[in-house]
Amino acid sequence: MSTQWYDSQKNNLRLSTMTIRSLSAISLVVLVVVGRWLDNIKRRWYVLDPESLHELAKSAVAAASSPNDTAGMIQHIVTNLTNTYSPSQIKLNRDSKEWVFNNAGGAMGAMYIIHASITEYLIIFGTPLGTEGHSGVHTSDDYFNILVGEEWAFAPGSLEMERYTAGMVNYMSRGTAKQYKMHRGCFALEYARGWIPPMLPFGFIDTFTSTLDFFSLYDTCLDLWYDPEIYILNLSMTFNLSKWNIGAIALLCLVVLARWLDHVKDRWYVFDPDFLHELAQSAVASAFSPNDTAGMIDHIVTNLTSTYASSQVKLNHDSTEWVLSNAGGAMGSMRILHASITEYLIIFGTPLGTEGHSGILSADDYFHILVGEQWAFAPGSFEMERYTAGTVHFLPRGVTKQYKMHRGCFALEYARGWIPPMLPFGLADTLTSTLDFFTLYHTARITAREVLRNLFVGKI
Ligand SMILES: *[C@@H]1O[C@H](CO)[C@@H](O)[C@H](O)[C@H]1NC(C)=O
Ligand SMILES: *[C@@H]1O[C@H](CO)[C@@H](O)[C@H](O)[C@H]1NC(C)=O
Ligand SMILES: *[C@@H]1O[C@H](CO)[C@@H](O)[C@H](O)[C@H]1NC(C)=O
Ligand SMILES: *[C@@H]1O[C@H](CO)[C@@H](O)[C@H](O)[C@H]1NC(C)=O
Ligand SMILES: *[C@@H]1O[C@H](CO)[C@@H](O)[C@H](O)[C@H]1NC(C)=O
Ligand SMILES: *[C@@H]1O[C@H](CO)[C@@H](O)[C@H](O)[C@H]1NC(C)=O
Repeated sequence: MSTQWYDSQKNNLRLSTMTIRSLSAISLVVLVVVGRWLDNIKRRWYVLDPESLHELAKSAVAAASSPNDTAGMIQHIVTNLTNTYSPSQIKLNRDSKEWVFNNAGGAMGAMYIIHASITEYLIIFGTPLGTEGHSGVHTSDDYFNILVGEEWAFAPGSLEMERYTAGMVNYMSRGTAKQYKMHRGCFALEYARGWIPPMLPFGFIDTFTSTLDFFSLYDTCLDLWYDPEIYILNLSMTFNLSKWNIGAIALLCLVVLARWLDHVKDRWYVFDPDFLHELAQSAVASAFSPNDTAGMIDHIVTNLTSTYASSQVKLNHDSTEWVLSNAGGAMGSMRILHASITEYLIIFGTPLGTEGHSGILSADDYFHILVGEQWAFAPGSFEMERYTAGTVHFLPRGVTKQYKMHRGCFALEYARGWIPPMLPFGLADTLTSTLDFFTLYHTARITAREVLRNLFVGKI
């Protein structure tokens, strides 16, 4: 009876492993195909065009009362664009007082966003002081029309600089990068077409790592939001019917794919919370003393190794691989027992005790206390929750708490859901506070290695 049951389970398992492999292969192919298809058709969404903008920039320079009459040129450009394009076709930001600082690639200037959408943006960028930096590797084609002053540019491999004066355009194709200098003050009309959202991290990173000018960032986000919002909400007005169909289908595909992946992610789970809870309890019960952490970990790893075949899931057996972990203000050490795209299993703790923010997790989290005590608190409550050895603190996806591992505590933490979106939370404190890049390196190395080992046996 029990062998029959076991055999049928084994067959089911074999079947589901095959299904999982073919499903993941199919979803990868679908993703690549949709990505390539969107990239091919993206020009259907372009409204502006580089040649007429170049003509317009030249006519603005020619019409200005003096070569440094930047305000006049901008007025000329915005008036022309307003008369050329109807509001049902493209939204323009005509509030020419909306300037924000922009720091990117080490260069700084002020920016006025005339138009921003998912596939195009049009801005005025410049500074009377002059500036110099890295252009960034763009995911779009970039046309930098000089209005006032002079831009110098330089690409590695060349020994001469390129020089762009008023009326000229510095064109950079997608994927290229240059050093540029806006000499002695310079203003330009910058037009980019391609995929705009992937460029935002470059536009914002200097704010986080250097200037910390979050007011400018906030204003920029408000400006940027304006047009994409209209694009998404008023698609039917913006596009004619065939384009509307294409946009809707693409959006639908993406939403369906994402929902489907989220729905089927359970299929890739190998571990089971109830089993792990029993295992943690048996580890606590079988330990020599309540603080015999090493013994409990041994018990857990030995049991997992005999319970799960290595063709099903890969475990990390190296008991020396401990790394520090700083996240949400809390600190402890961590040993990664298993890491894949939908699950991880770690030992986390510190004999000193620690306290911090749980992070907004994109996975369900089961925190099995092995040694010591954990306290937790969610806003709105006035009492703390208390978890002792053998109990489990369950934190569903999306819920946040403050937690304290009181007077030293070790736990077996199991998370299931989407693991990659949780990595930024796990690494942010290293980049902004501890600067312990050795730990960062080892954490990234071990995680990547474990995820890959699991992918090789078909464990997503
Ligand atoms: C806008 O500028 C372009 C290029 O200079 C010009 O050909 C066109 O006539 C102008 N349109 C309007 C409405 O001013
Ligand atoms: C433009 O240049 C003229 C003379 O070179 C100078 O008097 C004027 O202040 C400048 N205007 C601006 C806005 O820089
Ligand atoms: C966008 O659509 C909403 C609702 O249909 C409408 O109220 C609004 O006026 C539209 N906005 C623009 C700028 O067309
Ligand atoms: C509608 O889209 C088709 C192709 O998708 C294009 O040829 C046509 O010019 C568009 N019509 C308008 C009014 O934009
Ligand atoms: C592993 O632990 C579970 C839960 O305590 C237990 O039911 C099972 O028999 C153990 N398996 C092995 C191989 O020790
Ligand atoms: C565990 O506790 C005992 C007594 O409470 C103590 O002597 C021992 O050093 C502790 N061991 C560890 C590893 O903390």
